[in-house]
Amino acid sequence: MTIIDEMKDDIKKVLYSQQQISERLEQLGEKLTADYAGKNPLVLCVLKGGSVFMADIVRSMKVQLQMDFMAVSSYSGTATTGEVRVVKDLESSIEGREILIVEDIVDTGLTLSYLIQQLSSRKPASINICALLLKKKTDPSEQRHVDVKYVGFECPDEFVVGYGLDYNEKYRNLPYIGVLKEEVYA
Ligand code: IMP
Repeated sequence: MTIIDEMKDDIKKVLYSQQQISERLEQLGEKLTADYAGKNPLVLCVLKGGSVFMADIVRSMKVQLQMDFMAVSSYSGTATTGEVRVVKDLESSIEGREILIVEDIVDTGLTLSYLIQQLSSRKPASINICALLLKKKTDPSEQRHVDVKYVGFECPDEFVVGYGLDYNEKYRNLPYIGVLKEEVYA
């Protein structure tokens, strides 16, 4: 039994298979290729969760682009701490650049709204967000704090893991996205 098989045992249900993710990425890539042709975007990955998605999405974008990485922290376990800290800043200047932020999942949008606020003061030409997952919010009081222009999937409002997303740093290397069994949290 491999480590991947062991992790699979912790999964209650698979939400998006490897095949579904790759098909959706191809569609997203076509849209991004059309929108960013000739614009030489700076694609920013929000570490660590966005890294797996970043690696795939940049290869589906058939345009000249650059990559940079940022890390912020706001979550501990499955709950947001409500506090966002920049843990690793960008290496490049973003002044006058077309910025595409690549993020694994947008839940409340607090992390990204904070990030956009920080980045806006550095005078980029534009900032757009590409998120693999956008959590569906049914309660109107849970209004999202940011606009996400490019979305892979609208997912149920549950804690999900895999394809870069972790639970206490585990499950990031699962090739699909799923929901954990309750006993894993016990
Ligand atoms: P937000 O600020 O509430 O939008 O949360 C964004 C960040 O929280 C994401 O970049 C993830 O790192 C983390 N996050 C939110 N929901 C989940 C989840 O269901 N699984 C794993 N990480 C999550």
